[in-house]
Formats: sequence, structure tokens, C-alpha cells
Amino acid sequence: MTIYKTNDYQDMSRKAANIISAQIIMKPNCVLGLATGSSPIGLYKQLIEWYQKGDLDFSKVTTINLDEYKGLGPDDDQSYRYFMNENLFNHINIDKARTYVPNGLEMNEEKACSDYNQVIAQSGGIDIQLLGLGNNGHIGFNEPDSVFKCETHCVNLTPSTIEANRRFFENEDAVPRQAYTMGIKNIMQAKKILVVVSGEAKAKALKDALYGPVTPSVPASVLQLHPDVTIVADKAALKLIN
Ligand code: GLP
Repeated sequence: MTIYKTNDYQDMSRKAANIISAQIIMKPNCVLGLATGSSPIGLYKQLIEWYQKGDLDFSKVTTINLDEYKGLGPDDDQSYRYFMNENLFNHINIDKARTYVPNGLEMNEEKACSDYNQVIAQSGGIDIQLLGLGNNGHIGFNEPDSVFKCETHCVNLTPSTIEANRRFFENEDAVPRQAYTMGIKNIMQAKKILVVVSGEAKAKALKDALYGPVTPSVPASVLQLHPDVTIVADKAALKLIN
């Protein structure tokens, strides 16, 4: 595992964007596993800037996102599909037909999940999976649990995640209670994993994930078992480490 300590969010975003860019340059038809949340927004902005300068070409890239709220469609401005369009896809030369997000409007959970597992399998494997870290140690929407859930599944969001994500919605009642998310096995099968973490609020979760026991009660702790993980975190997030 490689840990890069950066001064702040902006530095973190630039460093992480460098790593994603290197992947695209080395393998133009790569499969990127992407994430939402506030952590990757700066990274996406940086990628857009480099694309606009002519340094990056997304025309052959495939993307597979981690998760989506159940019940929200692409036109809902709180859906993760909408987030990805707004924060990245609408600004680069990616073929949207090759950008995948779980179908939040599919109410048949079994179908939504098996369709998405098929998308992942047919992609030939994720070259690099980008992750943020939830305050409670979740990755994607894999919430603390008594077991690691393997593949894409429908999850009941925990009160702490509902509270953390409430800032994006009008009020707490508007936050969906369920989501579809890639499972831990899907994430662990990525060839490389890149985690971006910023801010003191994440310090405890980051320490537990990197140095605590590997346990489904801290889902990100499973990353200790992956052979190629890079953490890019700012000083505040690394406050409890070193
Ligand atoms: C959500 C997403 C996660 C993300 C987490 C942290 O729950 N499903 O993929 O990592 O939030 O979000 P943020 O980066 O805004 O702190």
C-alpha cells in the first residue's frame, strides 16, 4: 500500500488526477471504476482541465460507477448518474454508452443487481477503482455489517450515512433509504485501487481502515488485503496516523 500525504484537498485532487491520467495514457481503452461524493469532485475538475488542454483522451474509456440511490433516475439532480454527468461526463469526450451506473429506477432488486454484475463481468475487469471513504468506514455504499457482501446488492443506508448525505437534499426525509452498490468482491477484483480522503472528519475512519483489524464493521479495512492500493489523503485526514 502506498500512502501519499498532501497539504490540502486541492493537492489531493491533483495527485489523484495524475494517477487516473497515467492509467488513461498507459491504456486508452481502460475501465475506470468511479465514485461520487465530495471527495472526487476536485479530481474530476482536474481531469476536465487536462482534457480541455488536449492532454487526455476519453474516447475509448469505459467507466463503471460504484453505486446509485434506489428510486432516483438520471434526471433527478440528486442521483449519482446526474452527478457524474454534471461533474465529469458532460465535459469530456467520453461515449456515454460506455458509462455505467446502477439503474436506480429498476425496482426489481434482483434484476438491478444481476444486470450490474453482468456489466462488470463483461467489461473485462476494472483497471483502477476510485473510492471515497464514508465517515463510518463505508466504501461505495457497503455499510458496516456483520459480513462482507460480495457482489452488487441493495443496501439499507445507516442513520449515519443518511445524516452525512442529508446536506445534498432539501431535508432528511428526502434522502433515499436504500441504494444499489457494488459489493466488496467487485471492488477487490479491481486491478488497482485509489482512495481519496480529505478532512479531519475522516481521520478516525481512515486510521481504522488502514491499521485496525480487517472487519466488515469497517468495510474499508478489507483494502488491507488488496495487493495494489494507493491512498491519497490530506494532512487533516491523516491526523491520527504517524
Ligand atoms: C457516499 C458515497 C460514497 C462516498 C461517501 C463519502 O456515501 N456512496 O461512495 O465515498 O459518500 O462521501 P464524501 O466524499 O462526500 O465524504
